[in-house]
Amino acid sequence: MPLMEPYRIKVVEPIPITTREHRVRALEAAGYNPFNLDAADVTIDLLSDSGTGALSAEQQSAGLRGDESYAGARSFHRFRDVVDGLTGYPHVYPVHQGRAAERILFTALLKPGQTVVSNTHFDTTRANVELLGCKALDLPCREAKDLDDDAPFKGDIDLDALESVLTGPQDVGLVLMTITNNGGGGQPVSMANLAAAGALARRHGVPFFLDAARFAENAWLVTQREPGYADHTPRQVAELAFALADGCVASLKKDAIVHIGGLLGIRDPELAQRCELILIATEGFRTYGGLSGGNLEMLAQGLLEVTEPEYLRARADATRHVADLAEAAGVSSVRPTGVHAVYLNAGRLLPHLPPSRFPGFALATELYLAGGIRCAELGSLYLGEVDEAGELLKPAPYELVRLAIPRRVYTQSHLEYVGEVIAEIARDPERVPGYRLVEAPALLRHFNCRLAPVG
Ligand code: F0G
Repeated sequence: MPLMEPYRIKVVEPIPITTREHRVRALEAAGYNPFNLDAADVTIDLLSDSGTGALSAEQQSAGLRGDESYAGARSFHRFRDVVDGLTGYPHVYPVHQGRAAERILFTALLKPGQTVVSNTHFDTTRANVELLGCKALDLPCREAKDLDDDAPFKGDIDLDALESVLTGPQDVGLVLMTITNNGGGGQPVSMANLAAAGALARRHGVPFFLDAARFAENAWLVTQREPGYADHTPRQVAELAFALADGCVASLKKDAIVHIGGLLGIRDPELAQRCELILIATEGFRTYGGLSGGNLEMLAQGLLEVTEPEYLRARADATRHVADLAEAAGVSSVRPTGVHAVYLNAGRLLPHLPPSRFPGFALATELYLAGGIRCAELGSLYLGEVDEAGELLKPAPYELVRLAIPRRVYTQSHLEYVGEVIAEIARDPERVPGYRLVEAPALLRHFNCRLAPVG
């Protein structure tokens, strides 16, 4: 099959085409922080794959069938039936987005001082653990540390480390596996690793949950990379993965291809009851959880569409195409390429910039200035330690830039344009200036900080 989207376009939206002068002004006004840019000033928006996907005609028509009754709506039953068919969890709650599911589950499950262990916590997940006075511990596998290693399942948890934590003095309240591992380069988790981690957790009486935001993309990579699963459909793999866990939290803004929505799924009836009370107090009644009937219908339809092999194949090919274009231009990225994003290695491209000049941020900025492409830094600005004056105390282990690819939104020619802009920067990387922090709030720094170019 050639690289080709398995759908055609019925509704279009113009994208802003801007001049470099316009972008220079817009970025300056934004304090050089892409989160402060207006979307109207962005040509290709790769900031997030969350809530940014394109609805199908079937989803839109399902949305019109939404039942907006306060309780017991027909749309809730459709949502529940679809989620039940996929996950097998008897207690299923809609929530407005993933972090709401995290907050509800953790509040019902964890006691202050407990530890949550994960392959890697997503940043809101970590924040929700810490807000409860608990500790979030990441135990990524060893292969994950080498960005160039082509090991197939670099999202796996380190099983030896997990076992020693479970047998050690720490009071572990939850083992949470993020599939795919967004914080760790979008790398997948193997079914073997999920099964082994689940068995360890069970042996120690610790609940085992999935953060299933990208469950379908993880399932696709399992069919492509894990021995014994080549003959499975992605849907079958996804069902087997959910079956291995005691429940899940999920942002449905990713693999349900909708603009808003989340899910909490639970087996244990007592835990479910505790969660339900918090849900009703803070999100909404158990049959809508902060969503409209139309949302629930679109979510249900999206969950059925997202495991279609041709869709997943095309999406994985498109993302790999971006990584290949970058590689051909001399810009490496975290290997092997996952599905939802390409993580460019800015540290390697810009060796003239020390971590204190934020090379990942510098590359993200340059992608905007050169081509109107917006993306996120995942380096020392986001993960490093910074003092009150904004000086870097401890750098992040890597200086990366995440190009997150929204689902069904950009065509191959848009992605080729992204490749051209990367190549343009790579022709003369030494021109790219470093940055210093001029305003750095103590909390959630990367969303709110302001920077200025140096030199
Ligand atoms: N878990 C993972 C693995 C995520 O990637 C996200 C969100 C969440 C939980 C939280 O879900 O946004 O619906 O509340 N990730 C987005 C991103 C924001 O750009 O990667 P949410």
